[in-house]
Amino acid sequence: MNVVLGVCGSIAAYRAADLARNLMRSGFTVRVCLTDAAQKFVTPALFEVLTGNPCLIDTFDEPEMGRMAHIDWARQADIIVIAPATANTINKIATGIGDDMLTTIVLATTSPIVIAPAMNPQMYVNDATQAALRKLEAHAAIIVEPQEGDVACGEHGQGKLASNQEILNAVMTLAATRKSLIGKHVVITSGPTQEAIDDVRYLSNHSSGKMGVALARAAQLMGARVTVVSGPVKVQYPLNAQVVRVQSALEMLDATLAAGADADIVIGAAAVADYRPAIRTAGKVRRSDASLSLELVPNPDIIATVAKTYPGASVVGFAAEPSSELDVAREKLERKNLAAIASNDVSQPGIGFDSDQNELVLVTRAGQTLESGRLSKLGCALWLLDQVVRL
Ligand code: PMT
Repeated sequence: MNVVLGVCGSIAAYRAADLARNLMRSGFTVRVCLTDAAQKFVTPALFEVLTGNPCLIDTFDEPEMGRMAHIDWARQADIIVIAPATANTINKIATGIGDDMLTTIVLATTSPIVIAPAMNPQMYVNDATQAALRKLEAHAAIIVEPQEGDVACGEHGQGKLASNQEILNAVMTLAATRKSLIGKHVVITSGPTQEAIDDVRYLSNHSSGKMGVALARAAQLMGARVTVVSGPVKVQYPLNAQVVRVQSALEMLDATLAAGADADIVIGAAAVADYRPAIRTAGKVRRSDASLSLELVPNPDIIATVAKTYPGASVVGFAAEPSSELDVAREKLERKNLAAIASNDVSQPGIGFDSDQNELVLVTRAGQTLESGRLSKLGCALWLLDQVVRL
C-alpha cells in the first residue's frame, strides 16, 4: 500500500522521519512531500535516503517527466498522512486552496486522509483552526488529535504532535478497512429522542450522537451509502450521508421505516426514550405547590419493528447497560429479533454517552461473544461493521 506523507513546517517535523520508518516497517511504500516551511526544519535528502523515493516540494517538481507528479501521487496514494500538520496547511486544505505541492496533491486525491496537527495551543483552539478541522472531519478525514503538554514556544496546552504510535494506529485502521460495503445501504439511528411534556419541556437523555457519527463515517469508508436518522444533536454527520432529523421516538420510527425499505444493514445506536408523556400539554405546564404526576406511555420499539418489517436486512442493536453483564443484552437480542447486539457498559468512565471512546461486546445470534477492546468511537464503528459483514 502507498502512503504519501506530507510534512509541514513545525518543530515536530523531525518526528516525521521516525514515522516514515515506522510506516515502512509496517509494510507501506512511503513517499514524502514537504511544504516550503518544512524545509526550515528537515531536508528532502533525509526522506529520500530513508524512503528510497524522491521527495516533492514545489508544485512543479517532476521526478518522472510528463506524469504531472501532483496528479500521479494523488492517484497512487492509498492513504495520505499529514504529520505534523500546521494551522496554515489545515486551513488551506479545508478551504480548497492548492498553492503548493502538498495542498495540490490533497485537492487531487479521492483517498482517505489522516491529519495529525501540531502547533501552539492558542493556534489550535483558534476558531478558524477548529472550524477547519471539523469541516475536514465531516469530509471523512481522520484527525489524530494533538496531545497536551509543554510545547516548543514555552506554553502548556494541547498542541503537541500525537505519538507516532497513535498516528500509525490510525493509518493501520484505515488500511485494514476493507471496501466490503460497496453498493450497500446502511441506515443508522443516532442521538437521543426528545419526548415533549409541553411546548417548552421534554424528556430526554445524554446521547450526543458521537457513536452515530462514527458509524456513519465507518460505513462510508467501507463504501456504503449511508442514511442517518438522528434525534437532536450538535455533532456534524459526514457531508455525504443523508441525514433525516427527528425529535421524538414516533418520528424516528416513521423515518427509520421509510429509510429501511432498501437497507442492507440497520444499526440502532440511538438512545430512544422508552416512554413518552401520555399527553402533550399545549403551552406551558404551570407551577403550583401541589405535587404533579406525569403519566407515561411506552414508545414503540424502533429496531424491533424494523427487524419485523424488513426480515432481509441485518438489524443490529446497541445495549446501553450499567454493568458488563450480558444477560440483558442477550434478552434484548432475542426479544427484538436482531442479528447481533453491541453492549456498552455505560457505567465505565470515558466510554458510552458523550465520550470519544467506547468498548463494545458484540453478542451474535449464533451465540458468539466478541470484544472490541477500548477504541475511539470510529475504531469501534469500523470493528463493529467488520463483524457485521462477517456474520
Ligand atoms: O450518542 P453517544 O453520546 O455517542 O452515546 C452512544 C450510546 C451510549 C447512546 C450508544 O453507544 C448506545 O448504547 N446506544 C443505545 C442506547 C439505548 O437506548 O440502549 P437500549 O438498551 O435502551 O436499547 C437497545 C436497542 O434498542 C438500541 O439499539 C436502541 O436504539 C433500540 N431501541 C430502544 C428503544 C426503542 N423504543 N426503540 C429502539 O429502537
